[in-house]
Order: sequence, then C-alpha cells, then structure tokens
Amino acid sequence: MSASRFDGTKVPVTGGASGIGRATVQRLVSEGALVFAVDLDVEGLASLEGVHTHVADVSSEEAVVTAVAAAVETLGGIDVLINVAGIHRTTPIETLSVDDLTRLFAVNTVGPAIFCREALRHLPDGTGVIVNVTSSSAAHGNPYMTAYSASKGALLAFSLALAAEVVHRGIRVVPVSPGTTATPLIEGIPADLDMSYYARIRSLMGPATPEQIAGVIAFAASPDAAYITGAEIRADGGSHV
Ligand SMILES: NC(=O)c1ccc[n+]([C@@H]2O[C@H](COP(=O)([O-])OP(=O)(O)OC[C@H]3O[C@@H](n4cnc5c(N)ncnc54)[C@H](O)[C@@H]3O)[C@@H](O)[C@H]2O)c1
Repeated sequence: MSASRFDGTKVPVTGGASGIGRATVQRLVSEGALVFAVDLDVEGLASLEGVHTHVADVSSEEAVVTAVAAAVETLGGIDVLINVAGIHRTTPIETLSVDDLTRLFAVNTVGPAIFCREALRHLPDGTGVIVNVTSSSAAHGNPYMTAYSASKGALLAFSLALAAEVVHRGIRVVPVSPGTTATPLIEGIPADLDMSYYARIRSLMGPATPEQIAGVIAFAASPDAAYITGAEIRADGGSHV
C-alpha cells in the first residue's frame, strides 16, 4: 500500500455512511484524501471522523446538483468521484412491482449518472477519475434479483459508454463490481424464499469484507490504475469462475 496515493485528493463518496462506502471513506482518508461523504443516513454520517459530510438523497436530481456544488465549494474542487450509494430489493418475479423497479433504477442508476454529469463539469482533464460501484449481478444471473440486477447492469453499461465519451479528456471511468459483501445491504431477505440459491452467488472464500472491496475501489481510483478505463473490475471471490 502506498501511503500517499491520495494526498490532498478531493473525493466525494456517495453511500459513505455504511458498508462499502464507509470503508472506502476510511481507506481514502487513511491515504490522505479530502473526502466529502454524501448519504441519506444522518446518524451514519455523523459518526464519521475526519471527513466533510452532506445529507442528500441521490435519487433526487436537485439534491445531486446541490451536493456536487457543495462538494466543490467545501473541498475547492473534485479530483475523483466515487458512486457507492445503492439499495437492494429481493423481488421474486411473481411479486415484481413497478414501484420496486422505479426505486431501484432511481437510486442505483439515475442517481450515479446525474452525479457523473455534474462532477464532470469539475473533474480535471488528464487525471480525473470516476468509480461506479455496480455488482457482479450486473452480468451474472442471480435469482430474485431481476430488478436489482437490471439497475446495476444499466449502471455498468452507462459507465462503459461514459468511459469512451470522456477518454479524450484523459478522464477514467471504472465500474467496480463486488460479489456478496458483509454489509447491512444483504440482510432482510424474506425467510420464505428458497435460500439454496444463495450458494450460487457466494464465493467459497465467503463474503467479502467492506474493507476488501474498499481496497479495490481505492486501487481503481488511484494512479496505480492509470491505464484502466472502460473496464469492469469484478471482485467476487471467484463466485462466477
Ligand atoms: N453488499 C453486497 O453484497 C453488495 C454486492 C454488490 C454490490 N453492492 C453495492 O455496493 C454498494 C454499497 O452497498 P453496501 O453493501 O455497502 O450497503 P449499505 O446498505 O451498507 O450501504 C449503502 C449506503 O447507501 C446509502 N443510500 C441508499 N440509498 C441512498 C440514497 N437514495 N441517497 C443517498 N444514499 C443512499 C445508505 O444510506 C447506505 O449508507 C451498493 O451500490 C450496492 O448495490 C453491494
């Protein structure tokens, strides 16, 4: 690990209050970054130390515009954007609802996309980076996850297209796709579902820790990954080999 990869680097991180986003915030701070953590969770944000915080719902375009403006004003610019905020729903096809689809796409796809649009007005040519956290389920079939997987697949496709669109500016866009990770997100799966399916998406290595995924995100955002753009980095412990 390089102690100075992010010295003075200005980084908004969405979803910074919990799980993978929180571990990412802490990893970046430990490497010298100036972090602006954005989340809905007021208490989770308040318990972070050494970072600027901002309460916002990323599914609101107005809130995202305001959050990016606040990040620029607070940090004095944006060097790297990391979109981690996301929600999961267990949606057996028989009970799939328009409300579930709409909410999953609003938070998991539209929110990060608008964050990218706004941050790109500020990211520096030559060194700017966007990391979008997708999911291994974006490209691999997982039962009861049709809506979630579709929202993450859309974010993956968005990220690849955006990488091609901004490569001439020397800005990198890297989708990072975790497999099952031990965070609050994966709790709350209804007890009446056949849980045997879960074995399919679980690595023999067990679930990742949020810190393991944060390490991959930090790598993708760092100069160590300077030649990686428009390529998904999948961190799923070999669940889909
Ligand atoms: N945990 C896993 O197994 C797993 C696997 C693959 C991908 N992911 C993705 O990783 C990301 C982080 O998930 P996690 O596992 O750390 O979950 P988590 O629930 O611990 O953290 C998600 C964070 O996003 C925030 N958030 C949710 N909706 C928001 C909104 N509308 N506006 C602002 N903030 C919002 C939550 O408050 C929370 O702090 C998500 O995008 C998730 O889809 C997780």
